[in-house]
Amino acid sequence: MKSLKEIPLEELNREEFIRQRVQGIAEAVGSGLAVNALSGGVDSSVVTLLGHRALGDRLKTYFIDHGLMRQDEPQKIKLSFQELGIRVEIVEAKKEFFGALKGITDPEEKREAITQTFYKKVFGKIVKESGARFLLHGTNYTDVEETVTGIKRQHNILEQLGIDTQEAFGYKVLEPLVDLRKPAVRAIGRALGLPEEIYNRPPFPGPALATRVIGEVTPERIEIVKKATKIVEEELSITKAFQYLAILHDDKVTGIREGKREFGWQIEVRCWESTDARTGSPTRLAYEILEKLAERLTSEVPNVVSVTYNVTKKPPVTIEAL
Ligand code: XMP
Repeated sequence: MKSLKEIPLEELNREEFIRQRVQGIAEAVGSGLAVNALSGGVDSSVVTLLGHRALGDRLKTYFIDHGLMRQDEPQKIKLSFQELGIRVEIVEAKKEFFGALKGITDPEEKREAITQTFYKKVFGKIVKESGARFLLHGTNYTDVEETVTGIKRQHNILEQLGIDTQEAFGYKVLEPLVDLRKPAVRAIGRALGLPEEIYNRPPFPGPALATRVIGEVTPERIEIVKKATKIVEEELSITKAFQYLAILHDDKVTGIREGKREFGWQIEVRCWESTDARTGSPTRLAYEILEKLAERLTSEVPNVVSVTYNVTKKPPVTIEAL
């Protein structure tokens, strides 16, 4: 962080930034190979385009299917990039991730398990097999800031934590977006020709739906939060809020359905107004929207009997649940 300075959106010269970063990547990688993991979020999508401009086919782009993504996400993303002329390989890794997450309930331990599985086990192997010595990564300024100030361990920050990726994992990480915050990253995405539904997408965390499951992350619990996420996104996209999400609570509560008691799951909905995720306040959703959410979540997601809306600001609560 010492030598890192933010480029604010107002000072960003898009074409110049793109030219400079494309050149930087090309020079760093030389005649070698690089790899990157595409999650379909804004940051990794922008990095994918910059990297392909710099390296063409010498950048191999992978989508790691850890099973924690939103419904149908891997195929949708592969198709969107295919339309941009970029080949994305989907890597099946659900078993590795759910294995690593088994029995873990502590938030930081979950993040750590995902980091290790992602960068060491799954990606380390891909990098080794591909012969690439560079990994392009979409770390942004807010990620670094929150990590070095100890707010949260972002799963994508390694060098800032003093981890030598060359030594630990066998590759060097290049972070071409590290001095930009999200609005500036979106502007670069737009200038690079990304479709609007990608560059304007609400942010989505690297550890994906695992950040929205309180308690143990199992395939069954991810399935619940996946269904809830789909409903929340369908109902709240009209709000144009910064981010909206569904969280699955760890504890169950007693409900009643068709005259029978049902000990079921609780879903918490959050919807955020924010510009850069550093601070945020809950959107003042219309009561009709909240009622519709409660109705759909309890009728369409099996065994959900309770829905709440969080009205806390960030800080003290964070945007995600872990
Ligand atoms: P929090 O929950 O810390 O989130 O208030 C701030 C913003 O960052 C996103 N987020 C992440 N993004 N890797 C990411 O790339 C992560 O590990 C991560 N954790 C949180 C979150 O969605 C919000 O936009």
